[in-house]
Amino acid sequence: MLSLSSDGWSLAKRVCFHDDELLALARSYGPLLHWNFGPVMTMKYQKDAANYLFSDEVVPFHWDGAFYKEPKLLLFYCLESEGEGGETTFSDTTKLWNSLTEVEKEECRNVTLTYTTEKKAHYGGTIRVPLVQTHPVTGDVILRLAEKVETEKNPVTLTIEGGSEGFYDRMVRKLYENMIAHKWEKGDLLIVDNFRYLHGRRALKSNMNRCFKRIQILPEVL
Ligand SMILES: [Fe+2]
Repeated sequence: MLSLSSDGWSLAKRVCFHDDELLALARSYGPLLHWNFGPVMTMKYQKDAANYLFSDEVVPFHWDGAFYKEPKLLLFYCLESEGEGGETTFSDTTKLWNSLTEVEKEECRNVTLTYTTEKKAHYGGTIRVPLVQTHPVTGDVILRLAEKVETEKNPVTLTIEGGSEGFYDRMVRKLYENMIAHKWEKGDLLIVDNFRYLHGRRALKSNMNRCFKRIQILPEVL
């Protein structure tokens, strides 16, 4: 079992797993989130994709399960990655929070965000969430700030209540200041805390055969 480091981000290299081994590993952390395609999603470029996740576009920062059930952990297993682009980006919101001044923290506490997207893949709907939340396991502060998704395919719109002029742009800049961009190699197995980290993806550029398995692990008690 890959032990999760205290910063909620753990990587193993050159792992060789079949689907059943991957599932057994994921289940050792908790119950799995099932979708209409089952618990394992294959992430790969699709020509004419209806959802931008399967296009070659940038995927802005978000957390998984926002429109359904929120997993505590995400497991990514890389089957193929070669060439430029396609790095997965992670932003540590607890680190970001700890870098804020008291005045900035107070402003954040008064912000509520509403996200809306049409269901074109396995998720969709409207959610309204406070920006500042508490990690259900560690008790640390986490920030639920997903970026707007401006795409032709299935945009995610954002309405912000609270915050002064330029608040969103300032906070997004901070997300990128606290970013890790992981350049994948075949056999990378990465487990990341979906409460603490936001994640996204750089455009695929020449890395069009990039392929992953992704499994979402739920908290024990829902
Ligand atoms: Fe995601």
